Amino acid sequence: MIVVIGSINMDLVLRVPRMPGAGETLTGSAFRTIPGGKGANQAVACARLSAGSFPAVKVALVGCLGDDAFGDILRAALVAENIDVSQISTMPGVASGIASILVDADGQNSIVIAGGANDLLAPSHIDAARDLIAQARIVVLQLESPLATVEYAINVAHALGKIVVLNPAPAAHLPAALLASVDYLIPNEIEAAMLAGTALGDVVAASAALRAQACRNVLVTRGAKGVHASLADGMHSFAAHSVIAVDTTAAGDTFIGGFVAALAASESVEEGIVLGQRAAAWSVTRHGAQTSIPYRHELPDANADFSRLSTH
Ligand code: RIB
Repeated sequence: MIVVIGSINMDLVLRVPRMPGAGETLTGSAFRTIPGGKGANQAVACARLSAGSFPAVKVALVGCLGDDAFGDILRAALVAENIDVSQISTMPGVASGIASILVDADGQNSIVIAGGANDLLAPSHIDAARDLIAQARIVVLQLESPLATVEYAINVAHALGKIVVLNPAPAAHLPAALLASVDYLIPNEIEAAMLAGTALGDVVAASAALRAQACRNVLVTRGAKGVHASLADGMHSFAAHSVIAVDTTAAGDTFIGGFVAALAASESVEEGIVLGQRAAAWSVTRHGAQTSIPYRHELPDANADFSRLSTH
Protein backbone atom coordinates (compact mmCIF):
# COMPACT_ATOMS: atom_id res chain seq x y z
CA MET A 1 0.00 0.00 0.00
CA ILE A 2 1.02 3.61 -0.64
CA VAL A 3 -0.18 6.22 1.88
CA VAL A 4 -0.07 9.84 0.74
CA ILE A 5 -0.47 12.51 3.42
CA GLY A 6 -1.24 15.99 2.15
CA SER A 7 -3.35 18.67 0.55
CA ILE A 8 -6.54 18.50 -1.47
CA ASN A 9 -7.46 21.62 -3.47
CA MET A 10 -9.95 22.73 -6.05
CA ASP A 11 -7.88 24.45 -8.76
CA LEU A 12 -9.46 27.59 -10.26
CA VAL A 13 -7.66 27.76 -13.58
CA LEU A 14 -7.51 30.56 -16.13
CA ARG A 15 -5.48 30.72 -19.36
CA VAL A 16 -3.69 34.06 -19.88
CA PRO A 17 -1.62 35.29 -22.83
CA ARG A 18 1.15 36.24 -20.38
CA MET A 19 1.49 36.74 -16.62
CA PRO A 20 0.02 40.10 -15.48
CA GLY A 21 2.21 42.77 -13.89
CA ALA A 22 1.43 44.51 -10.56
CA GLY A 23 -1.74 46.64 -10.85
CA GLU A 24 -2.50 45.30 -14.35
CA THR A 25 -5.83 43.82 -15.50
CA LEU A 26 -5.60 41.19 -18.24
CA THR A 27 -8.29 39.32 -20.14
CA GLY A 28 -7.98 35.56 -19.67
CA SER A 29 -10.00 32.65 -21.07
CA ALA A 30 -11.05 29.03 -20.61
CA PHE A 31 -11.86 29.24 -16.88
CA ARG A 32 -12.17 25.75 -15.35
CA THR A 33 -12.40 24.18 -11.89
CA ILE A 34 -10.17 21.09 -11.77
CA PRO A 35 -9.38 18.78 -8.82
CA GLY A 36 -5.85 19.40 -7.58
CA GLY A 37 -3.67 19.83 -4.51
CA LYS A 38 -0.24 18.28 -4.32
CA GLY A 39 -1.30 15.50 -1.95
CA ALA A 40 -4.37 14.55 -3.97
CA ASN A 41 -2.49 14.82 -7.28
CA GLN A 42 0.26 12.53 -6.04
CA ALA A 43 -2.28 10.01 -4.72
CA VAL A 44 -4.10 10.04 -8.08
CA ALA A 45 -0.79 9.66 -9.94
CA CYS A 46 0.19 6.71 -7.71
CA ALA A 47 -3.20 5.07 -8.35
CA ARG A 48 -3.26 5.62 -12.14
CA LEU A 49 0.36 4.61 -12.64
CA SER A 50 0.01 1.50 -10.44
CA ALA A 51 -3.06 0.41 -12.38
CA GLY A 52 -2.49 -3.07 -13.74
CA SER A 53 0.30 -3.89 -11.25
CA PHE A 54 0.16 -7.42 -9.93
CA PRO A 55 -0.39 -7.74 -7.04
CA ALA A 56 -2.51 -4.56 -7.12
CA VAL A 57 -1.10 -1.62 -5.16
CA LYS A 58 -3.63 0.12 -2.92
CA VAL A 59 -3.42 3.89 -2.43
CA ALA A 60 -4.80 5.86 0.53
CA LEU A 61 -4.86 9.62 1.13
CA VAL A 62 -4.81 11.28 4.56
CA GLY A 63 -6.00 14.89 4.55
CA CYS A 64 -8.76 17.38 5.32
CA LEU A 65 -11.61 18.82 3.25
CA GLY A 66 -14.08 21.59 4.01
CA ASP A 67 -17.82 20.97 4.40
CA ASP A 68 -18.60 22.73 1.13
CA ALA A 69 -19.52 21.79 -2.44
CA PHE A 70 -15.84 21.67 -3.49
CA GLY A 71 -15.22 19.16 -0.68
CA ASP A 72 -17.91 16.82 -2.03
CA ILE A 73 -16.55 17.04 -5.59
CA LEU A 74 -12.94 16.52 -4.49
CA ARG A 75 -13.81 13.48 -2.35
CA ALA A 76 -15.83 11.95 -5.21
CA ALA A 77 -12.90 12.43 -7.61
CA LEU A 78 -10.64 10.43 -5.27
CA VAL A 79 -13.24 7.69 -4.75
CA ALA A 80 -13.53 7.38 -8.55
CA GLU A 81 -9.81 6.46 -8.63
CA ASN A 82 -10.32 3.72 -5.99
CA ILE A 83 -8.30 5.71 -3.48
CA ASP A 84 -9.00 4.89 0.19
CA VAL A 85 -10.55 8.09 1.59
CA SER A 86 -11.35 6.68 5.06
CA GLN A 87 -8.82 9.02 6.68
CA ILE A 88 -9.92 12.19 4.88
CA SER A 89 -11.68 14.33 7.49
CA THR A 90 -14.43 16.82 6.66
CA MET A 91 -13.90 19.89 8.85
CA PRO A 92 -17.14 21.62 9.89
CA GLY A 93 -17.53 25.29 9.06
CA VAL A 94 -14.31 25.41 7.02
CA ALA A 95 -13.73 25.95 3.28
CA SER A 96 -11.88 23.36 1.21
CA GLY A 97 -8.44 24.34 -0.03
CA ILE A 98 -8.29 26.18 -3.34
CA ALA A 99 -5.52 27.13 -5.76
CA SER A 100 -5.81 30.10 -8.09
CA ILE A 101 -3.78 29.15 -11.17
CA LEU A 102 -2.80 31.22 -14.21
CA VAL A 103 -1.38 29.32 -17.18
CA ASP A 104 0.38 31.36 -19.88
CA ALA A 105 0.78 30.75 -23.60
CA ASP A 106 4.01 28.78 -23.01
CA GLY A 107 2.27 26.42 -20.56
CA GLN A 108 4.06 27.89 -17.54
CA ASN A 109 1.95 28.46 -14.45
CA SER A 110 1.67 30.77 -11.49
CA ILE A 111 -0.15 29.38 -8.43
CA VAL A 112 -1.52 30.98 -5.24
CA ILE A 113 -3.09 28.63 -2.70
CA ALA A 114 -5.51 29.24 0.18
CA GLY A 115 -5.08 26.18 2.39
CA GLY A 116 -8.51 26.22 4.06
CA ALA A 117 -9.15 22.79 5.60
CA ASN A 118 -5.63 21.62 4.62
CA ASP A 119 -4.26 23.98 7.28
CA LEU A 120 -6.14 21.99 9.94
CA LEU A 121 -4.40 18.66 9.30
CA ALA A 122 -3.10 17.87 12.79
CA PRO A 123 -0.99 15.19 14.53
CA SER A 124 -4.29 13.74 15.82
CA HIS A 125 -5.24 12.94 12.21
CA ILE A 126 -1.93 11.11 11.80
CA ASP A 127 -2.61 9.17 15.01
CA ALA A 128 -6.06 8.25 13.65
CA ALA A 129 -4.40 7.03 10.44
CA ARG A 130 -1.69 5.04 12.23
CA ASP A 131 -3.18 1.62 11.33
CA LEU A 132 -3.32 2.67 7.67
CA ILE A 133 0.27 3.94 7.78
CA ALA A 134 1.34 0.68 9.42
CA GLN A 135 0.03 -1.22 6.35
CA ALA A 136 1.97 0.95 3.89
CA ARG A 137 5.23 0.17 2.16
CA ILE A 138 5.74 3.82 1.15
CA VAL A 139 4.52 7.07 2.76
CA VAL A 140 4.53 10.23 0.61
CA LEU A 141 4.33 13.81 1.94
CA GLN A 142 4.57 17.40 0.70
CA LEU A 143 4.56 20.81 2.44
CA GLU A 144 1.04 22.12 1.74
CA SER A 145 0.11 20.87 5.24
CA PRO A 146 1.25 22.36 8.57
CA LEU A 147 4.98 21.71 9.02
CA ALA A 148 4.50 20.40 12.58
CA THR A 149 2.10 17.75 11.24
CA VAL A 150 4.45 16.84 8.39
CA GLU A 151 7.28 16.38 10.89
CA TYR A 152 5.07 14.31 13.17
CA ALA A 153 3.93 12.10 10.29
CA ILE A 154 7.49 11.59 9.02
CA ASN A 155 8.59 10.53 12.50
CA VAL A 156 5.68 8.06 12.77
CA ALA A 157 6.34 6.59 9.31
CA HIS A 158 10.10 6.38 9.87
CA ALA A 159 9.64 4.72 13.28
CA LEU A 160 7.34 2.15 11.61
CA GLY A 161 10.12 1.38 9.10
CA LYS A 162 8.32 2.80 6.05
CA ILE A 163 10.00 4.22 2.95
CA VAL A 164 9.46 7.98 3.37
CA VAL A 165 9.22 10.19 0.26
CA LEU A 166 9.10 13.97 0.78
CA ASN A 167 8.32 16.49 -1.95
CA PRO A 168 9.41 19.74 -0.22
CA ALA A 169 6.90 21.92 -2.06
CA PRO A 170 6.11 24.76 -1.67
CA ALA A 171 9.75 25.60 -0.88
CA ALA A 172 10.57 25.97 2.83
CA HIS A 173 13.51 25.64 5.16
CA LEU A 174 13.45 22.28 6.93
CA PRO A 175 15.20 21.01 10.08
CA ALA A 176 18.13 18.65 9.42
CA ALA A 177 16.60 16.05 11.76
CA LEU A 178 13.55 15.84 9.52
CA LEU A 179 15.66 15.38 6.37
CA ALA A 180 17.54 12.55 8.08
CA SER A 181 14.27 10.58 8.35
CA VAL A 182 13.47 10.95 4.63
CA ASP A 183 14.50 8.19 2.23
CA TYR A 184 13.78 10.04 -1.03
CA LEU A 185 13.73 13.85 -1.11
CA ILE A 186 12.23 15.08 -4.42
CA PRO A 187 12.54 18.87 -4.79
CA ASN A 188 12.52 20.95 -7.96
CA GLU A 189 15.53 23.17 -8.66
CA ILE A 190 14.17 26.14 -6.68
CA GLU A 191 13.30 24.01 -3.67
CA ALA A 192 16.67 22.23 -3.81
CA ALA A 193 18.60 25.53 -3.89
CA MET A 194 16.58 26.93 -0.99
CA LEU A 195 16.94 23.83 1.16
CA ALA A 196 20.65 23.47 0.44
CA GLY A 197 21.54 27.18 0.50
CA THR A 198 23.24 26.88 -2.92
CA ALA A 199 23.01 28.90 -6.14
CA LEU A 200 19.87 28.31 -8.23
CA GLY A 201 20.66 25.85 -11.03
CA ASP A 202 23.72 24.25 -9.40
CA VAL A 203 22.04 20.90 -8.81
CA VAL A 204 25.32 19.08 -8.19
CA ALA A 205 26.17 21.43 -5.29
CA ALA A 206 22.59 21.35 -3.98
CA SER A 207 22.43 17.54 -4.05
CA ALA A 208 25.86 17.22 -2.40
CA ALA A 209 24.87 19.69 0.34
CA LEU A 210 21.58 17.87 0.98
CA ARG A 211 23.27 14.49 1.14
CA ALA A 212 25.77 16.01 3.58
CA GLN A 213 22.71 16.89 5.71
CA ALA A 214 21.92 13.15 5.90
CA CYS A 215 19.39 12.97 3.02
CA ARG A 216 19.88 9.44 1.72
CA ASN A 217 18.63 10.00 -1.84
CA VAL A 218 17.89 13.29 -3.60
CA LEU A 219 16.04 13.49 -6.93
CA VAL A 220 15.96 17.04 -8.30
CA THR A 221 13.27 17.48 -10.95
CA ARG A 222 14.38 20.02 -13.59
CA GLY A 223 11.49 20.18 -16.06
CA ALA A 224 12.79 20.09 -19.63
CA LYS A 225 16.32 19.53 -18.28
CA GLY A 226 15.37 16.14 -16.81
CA VAL A 227 16.12 14.69 -13.38
CA HIS A 228 19.35 14.83 -11.38
CA ALA A 229 19.56 11.88 -8.99
CA SER A 230 22.03 11.72 -6.13
CA LEU A 231 21.84 8.17 -4.79
CA ALA A 232 23.96 6.00 -2.51
CA ASP A 233 25.97 4.82 -5.55
CA GLY A 234 26.65 8.32 -6.92
CA MET A 235 25.09 11.02 -9.10
CA HIS A 236 23.14 10.27 -12.29
CA SER A 237 21.45 12.51 -14.86
CA PHE A 238 18.29 11.43 -16.68
CA ALA A 239 17.41 13.46 -19.80
CA ALA A 240 13.78 14.58 -20.19
CA HIS A 241 11.58 13.54 -23.11
CA SER A 242 11.13 16.31 -25.65
CA VAL A 243 7.48 17.42 -25.65
CA ILE A 244 5.28 20.32 -26.72
CA ALA A 245 4.07 21.54 -23.31
CA VAL A 246 0.63 23.13 -22.98
CA ASP A 247 0.42 23.14 -19.16
CA THR A 248 3.08 22.10 -16.65
CA THR A 249 0.69 22.05 -13.65
CA ALA A 250 1.17 18.84 -11.62
CA ALA A 251 4.08 17.57 -13.76
CA GLY A 252 6.15 17.19 -10.57
CA ASP A 253 3.26 15.42 -8.83
CA THR A 254 2.94 13.06 -11.79
CA PHE A 255 6.68 12.30 -11.71
CA ILE A 256 6.44 11.46 -8.00
CA GLY A 257 3.40 9.24 -8.57
CA GLY A 258 5.23 7.28 -11.28
CA PHE A 259 8.38 6.97 -9.20
CA VAL A 260 6.48 5.78 -6.11
CA ALA A 261 4.22 3.43 -8.10
CA ALA A 262 7.32 1.73 -9.51
CA LEU A 263 8.99 1.42 -6.09
CA ALA A 264 5.77 0.03 -4.61
CA ALA A 265 5.79 -2.65 -7.32
CA SER A 266 9.40 -3.54 -6.34
CA GLU A 267 10.89 -1.96 -9.46
CA SER A 268 14.31 -0.30 -9.14
CA VAL A 269 14.97 3.39 -8.44
CA GLU A 270 16.14 3.84 -12.04
CA GLU A 271 12.94 2.21 -13.37
CA GLY A 272 10.97 4.50 -11.08
CA ILE A 273 12.69 7.60 -12.46
CA VAL A 274 12.11 6.44 -16.04
CA LEU A 275 8.39 5.75 -15.38
CA GLY A 276 8.02 9.08 -13.57
CA GLN A 277 9.58 10.94 -16.48
CA ARG A 278 7.41 9.21 -19.09
CA ALA A 279 4.29 10.06 -17.09
CA ALA A 280 5.34 13.66 -16.42
CA ALA A 281 6.16 14.20 -20.11
CA TRP A 282 2.70 12.92 -21.06
CA SER A 283 1.06 15.14 -18.42
CA VAL A 284 2.44 18.43 -19.72
CA THR A 285 0.77 17.80 -23.08
CA ARG A 286 -2.62 17.92 -21.29
CA HIS A 287 -4.40 20.70 -19.39
CA GLY A 288 -4.93 20.89 -15.63
CA ALA A 289 -3.77 18.91 -12.59
CA GLN A 290 -5.69 15.64 -12.12
CA THR A 291 -7.07 15.94 -15.66
CA SER A 292 -3.51 15.62 -17.01
CA ILE A 293 -2.27 12.58 -15.07
CA PRO A 294 -2.04 9.47 -17.28
CA TYR A 295 -2.97 5.86 -16.57
CA ARG A 296 -0.04 3.52 -17.02
CA HIS A 297 -1.60 1.83 -20.07
CA GLU A 298 -1.81 5.19 -21.88
CA LEU A 299 1.95 5.80 -21.83
CA PRO A 300 4.07 5.36 -24.93
CA ASP A 301 7.17 3.27 -24.25
CA ALA A 302 10.33 5.01 -23.10
CA ASN A 303 11.85 5.07 -26.63
CA ALA A 304 8.80 6.65 -28.31
CA ASP A 305 8.88 10.15 -29.80
CA PHE A 306 7.01 12.08 -27.07
CA SER A 307 7.02 15.27 -29.16
CA ARG A 308 4.36 13.61 -31.37
CA LEU A 309 1.88 13.19 -28.49
CA SER A 310 -1.34 14.91 -29.41
CA THR A 311 -2.96 17.38 -27.01
CA HIS A 312 -6.60 17.79 -26.16
O1 RIB B 1 1.42 20.81 -7.95
C1 RIB B 1 0.28 21.37 -8.52
C2 RIB B 1 -0.73 21.70 -7.46
O2 RIB B 1 -0.23 22.74 -6.64
C3 RIB B 1 -2.05 22.22 -7.97
O3 RIB B 1 -2.97 21.21 -8.26
C4 RIB B 1 -2.50 23.17 -6.88
O4 RIB B 1 -3.64 22.76 -6.21
C5 RIB B 1 -1.31 23.30 -5.94
O5 RIB B 1 -1.47 22.54 -4.80
